[in-house]
Amino acid sequence: MLDDLERILIHEQTILSRLDELAREITATYRGQELTVIAVLNGSLIFAADLLRRIPLPLRLDCLRVASYHGGTESTGTVTFHQLTLPDVRGRHVLVLDDILDSGRTLHAICSRLRGESPASVRVCVLLRKAKVRAEALEADFTGFEIGDEFVIGYGLDYAEQYRNLPFVGVLKREVFESSKFRAPSGVIGG
Ligand code: IMP
Ligand code: MG
Repeated sequence: MLDDLERILIHEQTILSRLDELAREITATYRGQELTVIAVLNGSLIFAADLLRRIPLPLRLDCLRVASYHGGTESTGTVTFHQLTLPDVRGRHVLVLDDILDSGRTLHAICSRLRGESPASVRVCVLLRKAKVRAEALEADFTGFEIGDEFVIGYGLDYAEQYRNLPFVGVLKREVFESSKFRAPSGVIGG
């Protein structure tokens, strides 16, 4: 697995130190409010686990599973919800956690659906934010790191469902994308 890496972009300790700061910002924002965190699976799983343990507030945790990738490195433009019903967010302050803000389509679709359920507020927190022009006008309220417009893996982020368990964020060697090692399965996967 490590042989597939071109380089480490954000080291584990750098991520964890930034999570301390993010958690402080989030705690200050939501003190005294009814917080519901919605983690977008699978990409935010590790981020959510590390971040939430740093937030000393009473909160509810729900998960949403969506997919917008076909296993490649480009967004397909369609966002599929795997749940038939959304978490109950009426009157609650909602914080949506995702791994990365790329085209913005996934978080835009999620926030639009949630806003239809009459929450008190909806905010977005992402570990990574790609510096690029987005297909959907969506901004994160809390961001871990700003990165360039390149495909990254690790700390929850996958390529063809692999590499989520790397403890850092890294960049794959070009030949990994070009090899037939991970032929993208047909149908929507990811998240
Ligand atoms: P969107 O293009 O902002 O809708 O991003 C949708 C999803 O694509 C994210 O939640 C990730 O799961 C995935 N994604 C986008 N960019 C990357 C990347 O660089 N590495 C791994 N997954 C990514
Ligand atoms: Mg993914």
